[in-house]
Amino acid sequence: MPYRYSQVARLLHWLTVLLVFVMFVLGTAMVYLVPDSAAALSHRFYNTHESLGVVVLLVMLLRLIRRWRYPPGPLPEGVPRIFHVVGHANHMLLYIVLLVQPVIGLLRDNADGFQLDWFEIVPVPLLIGKDVALAHALSAVHWYGALLIALLIGAHIGGALFHGVIRRDGVLQRML
Ligand code: HEM
Ligand code: HEM
Repeated sequence: MPYRYSQVARLLHWLTVLLVFVMFVLGTAMVYLVPDSAAALSHRFYNTHESLGVVVLLVMLLRLIRRWRYPPGPLPEGVPRIFHVVGHANHMLLYIVLLVQPVIGLLRDNADGFQLDWFEIVPVPLLIGKDVALAHALSAVHWYGALLIALLIGAHIGGALFHGVIRRDGVLQRML
């Protein structure tokens, strides 16, 4: 039987896809579409983006721990070595950026003198004190972080479709 990711691994993968998609929609909408003058709406967008970002952090941590405990099975035979290396690098970079990006967002908030109230239920402890210059720098890092995530996901989806549609080698089926 060819290896297929476990039900939990697949569920967490597709949950991540949904969450990250929503993060991009909310992030770009709140920064570029919702005017600051619509204060209540703007606040709702920011709070949801930031709170869901913390969920992404937790889901990725959970995935990483699970992956370490239950490593994925071998790729189907005949998949060239270079695809193993490139695919693995893509996945590891996705783990890293999706863990770092929410932390940058949190630090940026704190440096701006703002404490996140998670879904307006639980205050997230402050990690650092106010430092406006640092907040500006972290804001730029968050922007480049989002760009890097978009590029990695673009390559990832391209790779998944290459396996699934062109090579038809069974790699895509592992995550379906
Ligand atoms: C995987 C998680 C995340 C992704 C993919 C993401 C993505 C984005 C994107 C696409 C934008 C709009 C572009 C920009 O101006 O930077 C943005 C803005 C922003 N994000 Fe996130 N974000 C994530 C997590 C977080 C978290 C956890 C927080 C805070 C707790 C946060 C706080 C912000 C803030 C304050 C902005 C407004 C722009 C700024 O002034 O820096 N983000 N994010
Ligand atoms: C937000 C978008 C996405 C993110 C962040 C993401 C992230 C990841 C990560 C981190 C892995 C590695 C899993 C592991 O071995 O621990 C993975 C595997 C995989 N993803 Fe995605 N993914 C996304 C979208 C997609 C989409 C749209 C497809 C299908 C078109 C897809 C297909 C796959 C497949 C087939 C694998 C398994 C590859 C293998 O067997 O080695 N992913 N994904």
